[in-house]
Amino acid sequence: MNTTLIDKLSVSHALAYEEWVTLISSYDENDRVYAAEKARSAATDIFGDLVYLRGIVEFSNICRNDCYYCGIRRSNQSVTRYTLSDEEILSCCDAAYSAGIATFVLQSGEGAVSAPHLSQLIRRIKGKYPDAAVTVSVGELTFDGYRMLRDAGADRYLLRHETADAAHYGRLHPDEMSLSHRMECLYQLRTLGYQTGAGMMVGSPYQTAEHLARDMMFLCEFAPDMIGIGPFIPHKDTPFKDEKQCSAKLTLFLISLIRLMLPRVLLPATTALGTVLPDGREQGILSGANVIMPNISPVRVRDKYTLYNNKICINEETAICVKCLERRLNKIGYNIAYFTR
Ligand code: 5AD
Ligand code: FES
Repeated sequence: MNTTLIDKLSVSHALAYEEWVTLISSYDENDRVYAAEKARSAATDIFGDLVYLRGIVEFSNICRNDCYYCGIRRSNQSVTRYTLSDEEILSCCDAAYSAGIATFVLQSGEGAVSAPHLSQLIRRIKGKYPDAAVTVSVGELTFDGYRMLRDAGADRYLLRHETADAAHYGRLHPDEMSLSHRMECLYQLRTLGYQTGAGMMVGSPYQTAEHLARDMMFLCEFAPDMIGIGPFIPHKDTPFKDEKQCSAKLTLFLISLIRLMLPRVLLPATTALGTVLPDGREQGILSGANVIMPNISPVRVRDKYTLYNNKICINEETAICVKCLERRLNKIGYNIAYFTR
């Protein structure tokens, strides 16, 4: 019965809301494996055996927001806050480029650095690596802020919507944040010509199959260039510290469904997935993902950017992680697409 819905999805690349609810609330392990096989072959039809790397520099853990799930929320007094200098960020890019990575993702908490400062940095990175892509992920900015970064040469922007249900959004965030503003930002980014990434946490507190169905309907309509999804993992210094960690299986199933819905989308097997399951990123690739986002931050700050506990790759330098990933991917029959932006 669910395999019929999965077949329908892979042919028509869409389902009705009620069908999403049915599929997400009643799937079993057979359905998950069935979807993974279809999604994997959809991905290899387009991308072959290649996996794309996007290196993330977590350049500051300062954040003005207070999201209930996130370890670097402003209320968490146990975080040692840091901001990397432009020189340090450039050396992260150098190390990543030497390891074959040609997309740099600049990520930080919200409000950590100003748009003019970030623009200057983007110009320097693009000046040094004209063939590399620069992706920004610093949360909600004004339209002018987004335009300034775009004018400086930023190619892409990642801003997860987190959940497409406004009431659920309200249970994950304080009142000063809203789903409508998040969505407005996503449409502004698209207007400015960014390749835009959205996505949700899977298994976040209070999430239901209906919420995930809304997420799928939104993703189908917005059709982002990239979709980042990962399992919710509790962080010990947040209001959600006693909430339960999301299962890797549900995340893997959704990765497959997203691939079947949007065959060409860039779909990372996230660090969070690799955290809840030792071979989570490999399983993600085998379920239809085609991107991995290695951490290219200086090792000395890595344990300070903990959005959730037990994060992987905290002690391994960029070159080591890339070698490790290559070995892991080769083992499952995939290769890294080096220097692909
Ligand atoms: N568990 C899993 N993912 C998280 N994120 C933030 N906190 C957590 C957590 N506790 C995700 C959010 C954010 C991205 C950068 O990290 O989806 O958009
Ligand atoms: Fe970082 Fe394996 S990918 S240590």
